[in-house]
Amino acid sequence: MFKELFAFIKRNGVKSIFIHIFELYIGGFLKLLPGIGGLIFRGIFYRMIFASAGKKLIIYPNVYIVFSHKISVGRRVAINVGTYIDGRGGITMGDNILIGPNCVISSTGHGTESTTVPMSEQAVQYGKITIGNDVWLGANVFVRMGVTIGDGCILAAGSVVTSDVPPYSVYGGVPAKLISKRKDIEPVEGR
Ligand SMILES: CC(C)(COP(=O)(O)OP(=O)(O)OC[C@H]1O[C@@H](n2cnc3c(N)ncnc32)[C@H](O)[C@@H]1OP(=O)(O)O)[C@@H](O)C(=O)NCCC(=O)NCCS
Repeated sequence: MFKELFAFIKRNGVKSIFIHIFELYIGGFLKLLPGIGGLIFRGIFYRMIFASAGKKLIIYPNVYIVFSHKISVGRRVAINVGTYIDGRGGITMGDNILIGPNCVISSTGHGTESTTVPMSEQAVQYGKITIGNDVWLGANVFVRMGVTIGDGCILAAGSVVTSDVPPYSVYGGVPAKLISKRKDIEPVEGR
């Protein structure tokens, strides 16, 4: 128990412990607040504890966010009911983001290399998630650690996003695959 606590402090720093306690207790209370008051208080609270956040952060009730100090969001970000976000591996979102109900955005995972050590005992894995500008995640979308979602993308309801999504794509399914393009992107010279 103490070993895990020290490892956590070593990895995340002392400040993160306080932010984690805040988000568990104050965030846990605020997520139950209904109506416009709930939207206002959650907006103010998460703008204070996120690594950075632009104006017009809208967080609906029952959204559960952990490791907020590793999450950066732009302007006009809306996160709908029942969504879970784990920022441990780092999460960056741009401006104008719509996150539908019951999405899971998790920048961590369990180690699975060994079959003799239980997965719960193996080192936790981390992978930064990057979401561009003007992105819509439909209801029940899962975004795996390490994934980058380009500008202008739509992730269809129920998608499981396991690999990078190029800009202006509509992706859907399990695992998420290209459904259509919203516009053609000219290849940038030198890339
Ligand atoms: C992705 C989405 C925007 C596409 O809408 P659309 O442009 O009207 O697309 P269509 O219904 O014409 O479907 C186009 C293709 O995508 C497929 N598709 C649509 N939604 C899909 C989904 N959720 N998962 C997998 N495939 C899907 C269709 O089967 C169709 O495939 P086909 O061409 O082989 O027949 C829409 O289906 C969607 O998921 N919206 C999210 C709604 C939502 O979650 N709302 C609440 C949160 S705000």
